[in-house]
Amino acid sequence: MDWGMENRLAQIIKPDGKCFFLPIDHGYFQGPTSCLEKPQETIKPLLQYADALFVTRGVLRSAIDPAKTKPVILRVSGGTSMVGESLENEMLTTSIEEILRLNVTAVGLSVFIGTKYEKQTLKNLTDLVNMCENYGIPVMAVTAVGRELEKRDARYLALCCRIAAELGARVVKTYWCEDFDKVTRGCPVPIVMAGGPKCKTEIDVFNFVHDGIEKGAIGINLGRNVWQHQYPVAMMRALHAVVHKKATPEDANDLFNEIKSKSEPQECK
Ligand code: 5RP
Repeated sequence: MDWGMENRLAQIIKPDGKCFFLPIDHGYFQGPTSCLEKPQETIKPLLQYADALFVTRGVLRSAIDPAKTKPVILRVSGGTSMVGESLENEMLTTSIEEILRLNVTAVGLSVFIGTKYEKQTLKNLTDLVNMCENYGIPVMAVTAVGRELEKRDARYLALCCRIAAELGARVVKTYWCEDFDKVTRGCPVPIVMAGGPKCKTEIDVFNFVHDGIEKGAIGINLGRNVWQHQYPVAMMRALHAVVHKKATPEDANDLFNEIKSKSEPQECK
């Protein structure tokens, strides 16, 4: 692997081989998502516990201080919305010149496998890989499911992750599912887990993150279960302990409750 690629991957994947990416890219198709109306305020207390941010160029320029940030994974696909006909009909939104100008560490885009837009979004992936590999910039592929959350089973996600890796993604982001080892076993590049919509309880989140890491994921890219929680810092720190300190779900829950007991709840809901 070339030095530049290796160096960028080492910026987002820590020396223990693990990572915690904080995604705040949801507005690119959801608009002002609950608790993310003012991204700079949402991330302020959380940034120190994140290994990298996953963000669009609009939020990067408007809400992230270039002098005080973490490595940036730039979201470079979009063009659809929650109120449009289909979430899957994405294009690449960002040129290679812009990616270089913003000095980002990696880029990420969604692929929608098994949909009408499978070929188009996989072409987005291969075009992006072809552009970014020239400059040593890693591409993270997101195996997106649009509104069809029930698609998230091991057989489907294993297929998506393997295809994304075969087409050149350096990292794949997917959902946790039952039998998650079937997903990691068939994927030759590192896998990180997204959170999905907010879980009912904290321990549900700690359980799936712990299980996924035990079964081969290198970390998480988890947003709503952190910043839509009443106690986002407590969630972030407890998850950080699961990812980087081998905390069990029970340890994480204890840590969560300890930090919660000393914190004020956030108001957005
Ligand atoms: C949104 C994304 C998010 O980065 C991803 O879904 C992770 O966030 P969450 O944990 O809230 O699901 O790709 O398009």
